[in-house]
Amino acid sequence: MINTTLHGGDLDIISRMYNINKNEIINFSGNVNPLGLPNSIPRSIEKNLYMLTEYPDVAYLSLRESISSYTNIDKDHIVVGNGSTELISLFIKAVSPKKAVIVSPAYSEYQKEIELVGGKIELFPLKEEENFILNTDALLSSLNESIDMVVICNPNNPTGTYVDNDQAKQILDKCLEYNIYVMFDETYVEFADRERQVSAMPLIEKYNNLCIIRGTSKFFSCPGLRLGYGACSDSRILDYIKDNKDPWSVNILAQISGEVMFKDTEFIEKTISFISSEREKIKDYLKELKNLYVFKSQANFFLVKILKEDLTSDIVFEECIKEKMLIRNASNFPYLNNKYIRFCILDSENNSRLLHKLNELSQ
Ligand SMILES: Cc1ncc(COP(=O)(O)O)c(C=O)c1O
Repeated sequence: MINTTLHGGDLDIISRMYNINKNEIINFSGNVNPLGLPNSIPRSIEKNLYMLTEYPDVAYLSLRESISSYTNIDKDHIVVGNGSTELISLFIKAVSPKKAVIVSPAYSEYQKEIELVGGKIELFPLKEEENFILNTDALLSSLNESIDMVVICNPNNPTGTYVDNDQAKQILDKCLEYNIYVMFDETYVEFADRERQVSAMPLIEKYNNLCIIRGTSKFFSCPGLRLGYGACSDSRILDYIKDNKDPWSVNILAQISGEVMFKDTEFIEKTISFISSEREKIKDYLKELKNLYVFKSQANFFLVKILKEDLTSDIVFEECIKEKMLIRNASNFPYLNNKYIRFCILDSENNSRLLHKLNELSQ
């Protein structure tokens, strides 16, 4: 069924397919922060629009300084790109793994990019019976010198589960023994409760086999801007990226925005507290429904398993889109099937609408 191949960003396709005005679609599939753009972005773009007559700074110095203050990482260990998508591609090309392990089910781009460089892929399964939480010991004992790269999405899309800093250290130490690069995709990391220490960013200077990818599309609610960044302390990888990246792939509006968004503490704090409280409410509601099983999430979305016998993710998708609510049919992720859906946290009113619909469908 076609809805399984759709991404959260494919609103135009959905709009044409289901004959719904794009602006009326309530997008539970895109994983974008419902608070909308931080005010600092349009304010700064308006003031600096004249800069469209100029090229961006090819070294993106001020942008990297801004990211450096936000992440506490040396600016020389930061690279910027056209969304996290460009950086996923560049880091994978830089490592060019002959064999890579992807902790899975996960975002599909890693597999595509590894295949593009001719790499062989081994999926390491997150198990449903372990609530899709990474079994670090099992991963460690599966590693050997034939592997060049391990990819972990953290928190993971689509499961919402995460590895903390201690687990990350164990993985990095073991990988150092075998000369394995570890790529953490932290696109959703700022949504996680801080005390859980999900981000591996503090480990960047210590481990030169670590690279971290981050985006701004989800947390800062600006997927159209196309701004992402990466961190790594291995000069070989950084030099490869410098030599192979298209110059100016971050446009000047993204550059200007990046120089202000990371300093917008009001927006950042508001987002963290809203997502955290809404995440609790949604989890508590779903826990009471006997025909749905919700997996614990530290992201801004939930993976839900449908337990009702004759209800599938295709049916739930179709029933929701009839009411202009677009959820992610998660059946095409590896290890998942037509019993899984994913949806993100939107504003409270829309969240309640979706929850009531899910309740009704699962009765
Ligand atoms: C885990 C993950 N990484 C990367 C991306 C791509 O994001 P960006 O817009 O920053 O390229 C997505 C988009 O859905 C994602 O879910």
